[in-house]
Amino acid sequence: MFALLGLVATLLTLGAAAPLQEAKSRNKLLLVSFDGFRWNYDQDVDTPNLDTMARDGVKAKYITPPFVTQTSPIHFTLVTGRYIENHGVIHNMWFNTTTGQKLAYYTTQGRSDWWDNGSLPIWITAQRQGLKTGSLFFPGGNATYQGEQVNVKKVEKLLHNYGNETEWKGNIDMVMKWFSEDDLDFVALYFGEPDSTGHKYGPESQQRKDMVSQVDRAVGYLRQRILDYGMTSTLNLIITSDHGMETVIKENEIVLRNVANFSFSDIQFEMLDYGPQGLLVPKPGKLEQVYEVLKTAHSKLHVYKKEEFPKRFHYANHTRVTPLVLYGDPGYVINGRLKVQFNKGEHGFDNEDMNMKTIFRAVGPAFERGLEVEPFESVDVYALLCKLLEIVPEPHDGNVNATQAMLAKSAGLSLENIQYYNNQLVNELIQSELINSNKPGSVVGFQFHI
Ligand SMILES: *[C@@H]1O[C@H](CO)[C@@H](O)[C@H](O)[C@H]1NC(C)=O
Ligand SMILES: *[C@@H]1O[C@H](CO)[C@@H](O)[C@H](O)[C@H]1NC(C)=O
Ligand SMILES: *[C@@H]1O[C@H](CO)[C@@H](O)[C@H](O)[C@H]1NC(C)=O
Ligand SMILES: *[C@@H]1O[C@H](CO)[C@@H](O)[C@H](O)[C@H]1NC(C)=O
Ligand SMILES: *[C@@H]1O[C@H](CO)[C@@H](O)[C@H](O)[C@H]1NC(C)=O
Ligand SMILES: *[C@@H]1O[C@H](CO)[C@@H](O)[C@H](O)[C@H]1NC(C)=O
Ligand SMILES: *[C@@H]1O[C@H](CO)[C@@H](O)[C@H](O)[C@H]1NC(C)=O
Ligand SMILES: [Zn+2]
Repeated sequence: MFALLGLVATLLTLGAAAPLQEAKSRNKLLLVSFDGFRWNYDQDVDTPNLDTMARDGVKAKYITPPFVTQTSPIHFTLVTGRYIENHGVIHNMWFNTTTGQKLAYYTTQGRSDWWDNGSLPIWITAQRQGLKTGSLFFPGGNATYQGEQVNVKKVEKLLHNYGNETEWKGNIDMVMKWFSEDDLDFVALYFGEPDSTGHKYGPESQQRKDMVSQVDRAVGYLRQRILDYGMTSTLNLIITSDHGMETVIKENEIVLRNVANFSFSDIQFEMLDYGPQGLLVPKPGKLEQVYEVLKTAHSKLHVYKKEEFPKRFHYANHTRVTPLVLYGDPGYVINGRLKVQFNKGEHGFDNEDMNMKTIFRAVGPAFERGLEVEPFESVDVYALLCKLLEIVPEPHDGNVNATQAMLAKSAGLSLENIQYYNNQLVNELIQSELINSNKPGSVVGFQFHI
């Protein structure tokens, strides 16, 4: 793999020094996430700006997030292209099963030991290849990876008000300055809505609809600023999100303390009362017993030993995942000792639940216009980002083909131009490396269109 990366770097350098065709300058890329924007949130609210963007660019019917459908794990999938079991950010909360210590979402943002677990996010990969990058509130954007940090960042304060529309405009202006004055190539911009409103009032509430209108106004403002800066033909804009939102069902609630023959005295570590997911470490010798009493405890509760957790989730095969993994059916959250979860809306559910699906929209020089594409997975977004930035990706679990149809034929991305170096030796080397690195079971490394 390293040999291949070196080879590609050499090719790219050669490309810069002796272009066989006039080298186009690299387009900039803005990745925007509006947290908790369910795939169909634009269907019961007027969204003129999102609609205009769809006409000017590309819209996916929806995209499928990875499991567990939580904020930090999914955002890290977006910027690494790895399933959650492969990047290790398995929960919004940092925890240690030995000491029982847990840290909230906000504090976890500053714990590099949680994020830097073997996968490099695109910021660092891009910087290593000579690009400049930024993060504004993006989950994972405040950590240090193998000693390196994103070039420019803004980090939210504790108890941040994520819904302040005035601040949203200020943040958009800041990002536009980063592109124009600081000449950044890639920025990831995060908004904490409509997630917060969806949790508090529920996904079917008027408050959520009003917040979607606010998101739509922000999209209009952003596109206007891109126009003002004269960047419509040099900036690719992607608007996506992490997960959807499900209405919480209040009847027949799951409360583990009420389960016959289940006792918290058999549990060494618990991560409960966090939406529909539960992680348990039974005390030594208690695993079988706890598993047996829980697995038939409630018709809406799924309980698995880690190694039997369904493979389709790509979730459990990581050292941080505990010996028992629990999840609730759509609408059902898991309470531990008491009913302490009062949100009207929740996420974290099975990623096959339609209400967990989320949005993907894109506009800019690389994209087709007025095209609706078929659903794909969040894990595929990373390969697209790398392709748009014309950088060589790290090994990842996505498929660059999944997003191929949305790209304008005239985009002329330079990694594709590798085919112009019609040097047989080079092609053979690339082919043999690709074959060696694509053994069955290994992650898809990266693909050129050769
Ligand atoms: C958890 O805490 C124990 C005890 O302090 C420590 O030995 C261990 O390294 C910690 N584990 C992690 C993953 O931080
Ligand atoms: C961001 O990282 C810095 C440096 O590691 C840390 O001091 C700060 O607390 C972090 N901010 C958040 C929100 O975690
Ligand atoms: C990931 O974190 C776990 C502790 O949570 C640690 O044991 C493991 O070595 C880390 N892996 C990498 C590649 O950093
Ligand atoms: C919203 O943000 C603006 C600009 O940052 C600030 O001046 C204002 O006080 C904020 N309003 C609220 C209600 O937080
Ligand atoms: C609970 O344990 C008792 C004693 O072992 C047993 O008789 C009973 O069937 C168990 N109940 C359930 C629901 O597992
Ligand atoms: C689990 O992950 C390890 C690497 O951490 C990998 O070698 C192994 O093949 C994976 N197992 C499955 C069943 O995916
Ligand atoms: C991507 O598409 C090409 C051409 O259609 C195909 O040959 C290749 O096998 C696909 N790669 C993957 C990983 O699906
Ligand atoms: Zn979220």
